[in-house]
Amino acid sequence: MSTDIFELDAPKGNSIAGHLLDLGSHPLEFLTDCGRNYGDIVPLQLGLTSACLITNPNYIEQVLKDRNSFIKSRGFRALKTLLGEGLLTNEGESWFRQRRLIQPVFHRNQINGYGKVMVEYSEIIRDSWTDGEIRDVHADMMSLTLKIVMKCIFNQDVSDKEAENVANALDVAMNWFESKRKQNFLIWEWFPRPENIRYRNAISKMDESIYSIIQQHRDRNYQDQDNDLLSMLMQARSEDDNSQMSDRQLRDEVATLMLAGHETTANALSWTWMLLAQYPQVEAKLWDELKTVLGGRLPTVEDLPHLQYTNMVIQESMRLYPPVSIFGREAVEDYQVDGYQIPAGCVVMISQWVMHRHPKYFENSEEFIPERWENDLEKRLPKGVYIPFGDGPRICIGKGFAMMEAVLLVATIAQKYQLKLVENHPIVPQPSITLRPEHGIKVEIRKRD
Ligand code: HEM
Repeated sequence: MSTDIFELDAPKGNSIAGHLLDLGSHPLEFLTDCGRNYGDIVPLQLGLTSACLITNPNYIEQVLKDRNSFIKSRGFRALKTLLGEGLLTNEGESWFRQRRLIQPVFHRNQINGYGKVMVEYSEIIRDSWTDGEIRDVHADMMSLTLKIVMKCIFNQDVSDKEAENVANALDVAMNWFESKRKQNFLIWEWFPRPENIRYRNAISKMDESIYSIIQQHRDRNYQDQDNDLLSMLMQARSEDDNSQMSDRQLRDEVATLMLAGHETTANALSWTWMLLAQYPQVEAKLWDELKTVLGGRLPTVEDLPHLQYTNMVIQESMRLYPPVSIFGREAVEDYQVDGYQIPAGCVVMISQWVMHRHPKYFENSEEFIPERWENDLEKRLPKGVYIPFGDGPRICIGKGFAMMEAVLLVATIAQKYQLKLVENHPIVPQPSITLRPEHGIKVEIRKRD
């Protein structure tokens, strides 16, 4: 006996749009309400699309681990126009092959080398700040993480024009995606609306730049010791047939790494600065750790095991403000989870925002308390509860890279500066592909004595 999920309790929806308006206008509040006041599975109707929110961590794990019965949801598929068959948007055997090729490139020993770049670039931005000035720290984090990821991918100071083309395409893409999300992806990108034309133009310029950089790499006959991500992707060979990636695949993976690897980390950092400003006792404890471990010098990857409190600050910040706050899968066949029947075509939604703030799993769940991560809380939590990087075979390939970057960057900047929030500046979490502060985060920079 199985129960059809659409017989389960659900919030009342509009007779035509279903729950689309609620989800489009205030997704985080709406999903939190679903998660707190209904069952483990909440059936939803998004216009003509059937969907459900799942909040039982066992179900979340089961869905994320099953890559035969589920594919990425419509939102991610919409990104294919930008990312092609890169890891984030690829499916099936082609995804599996690429993941196996790329996984070693993100091995701890490989990425440790990028620590220096991360600190170097953070120091440059830090030293450009002056005491007492007002800045949008989110804009700074976006520019910093983009520069870092580009340096790690290309290992060359990409020309201003090329960097600008790529950065502009990513920016246009994020805005385009946000406007599509509001229209529930019903207006296709080929429809000649100005935003679609702008989007396509930005992509062709980005392609031109990436292909030109790939060609420059080929021309300078990359060496074995070149350890930038692009050189490593160019050298990677399939275990099955020894084949290498085509230029098109390289382009797709490079665009994917830039998009997936820059805005997510920037958001994690922006929210961290906001929380540190709101919780001075946490900030003081962080400062204590930085003084003790680093004593005024710049951090290195060797310091990472000793920067435990800094690490917990990042974990806790990603609990309250997960850079990916909602994601999903689409069932490709009828699927059963614990006796509930999910029909083929149904979009299964999973929300880090809902899970990470669930009072069932976190005491004082709305409070910023990095100490809760002491004694390996992450391992003690049921799997499927704390999932800032997703889980299962498609777990974020850049998890180690991102954690290293976030800790090194906070350690570099917080040693020298305290950031105070500018009063009355609205800070509004906007869940698009990533959870970004809609109007930025305005801070006053205060130099430490
Ligand atoms: C705090 C920073 C980051 C967060 C919170 C984050 C989060 C995520 C999440 C939730 C997924 C899974 C999406 C899904 O299952 O549908 C994912 C996938 C991915 N992430 Fe990250 N990410 C971060 C940083 C990075 C970085 C730095 C890189 C690369 C340099 C990266 C590259 C990727 C790629 C390529 C995938 C697709 C993996 C696959 O499907 O095989 N991410 N990320």
